[in-house]
Amino acid sequence: MGQQVDNDLLGEDGNASAGGDQHQFGGVWTRIKLEALEKYLGAFNTALSKQHFTRIYVDAFAGTGRCDIKVNGEKQSIDGSARRALAANPGFHKYHFIELLPRKLDALKSLAEDHPDKNIEIVQSDANTALKLLCTQYQWCNERAVLFLDPFGMHVEWTTLEAIAKTGAIDVWYLFPYAGLYRQAAKNADALDAVKESSLSRVLGTDAWRQAFYVQKRQTDMFGGDDGDERNADHREMLDFVSERLKGLFAAVTAPKVLYQGGDSKNPSGAPLFALYFAASNRNPKAFGLATKIAKDILDTL
Ligand SMILES: C[S@@+](CC[C@H](N)C(=O)[O-])C[C@H]1O[C@@H](n2cnc3c(N)ncnc32)[C@H](O)[C@@H]1O
Repeated sequence: MGQQVDNDLLGEDGNASAGGDQHQFGGVWTRIKLEALEKYLGAFNTALSKQHFTRIYVDAFAGTGRCDIKVNGEKQSIDGSARRALAANPGFHKYHFIELLPRKLDALKSLAEDHPDKNIEIVQSDANTALKLLCTQYQWCNERAVLFLDPFGMHVEWTTLEAIAKTGAIDVWYLFPYAGLYRQAAKNADALDAVKESSLSRVLGTDAWRQAFYVQKRQTDMFGGDDGDERNADHREMLDFVSERLKGLFAAVTAPKVLYQGGDSKNPSGAPLFALYFAASNRNPKAFGLATKIAKDILDTL
């Protein structure tokens, strides 16, 4: 994986600034995640259109409404999540777009001006802060929401997911930073510094990953000292750990669709970069059963 991709995707320090303000190109994974989201938004609004609920769309890493991608060396510009959500028909009653960078907020504001008929709220904030607040802003009795979590890297805190799950009313599409996870959980535990450790714990909501991923190296050095720990969990096992964590929090979670750097959906190539999850927070079996069936069907056809 090139340095550019590393910097763009991994956010090694897990900070909000990790995405940077330089231009970012997506790839084949961008198209796949956006198609999944778009299909789900259509199905969600249709399924709830005969019910009394206020339908809300929340884009926590909203971007600009457009995405530049490079696929097989060819640059393209495609509609991003915010634009696709606004195009959903039937539409949502309310849209929340959260974004940190001022330049992107300007683009979102002009997108909102192009849609005067839509109820759009644009928030300049760190997604975690804004989402925790948003979860307390509604009663979640008469509201149902779809939330898109689309960070560049290790930005979504576990405590944010807890607040979302607690609402019992938000369906989540979470583009989990798979490459961020396995890069931060270094093969040799000596390379794990405090920043990486706290980033992993913040995203996974526990420090149990340490025991789950690492074992003490058997070999001792020539002076009888130990050789430190080594990660024995492979990438897949690490992702299984993530899935189990999410399943413990949400009412239902689909198996993740792993998105790769190259190829296409059916014949991927290159490094696995992200894992796309759908999670339902509604604890009513009929509600989460239908939501996950729709999401699974979408993921299967991508
Ligand atoms: C992968 S892009 C989102 C793309 C967008 N969902 C789309 O489809 O067009 C991630 C976005 O998150 C923003 N961002 C980075 N850190 C953030 C944070 N802590 N809170 C909110 N937004 C953040 C970046 O500026 C960037 O626009």
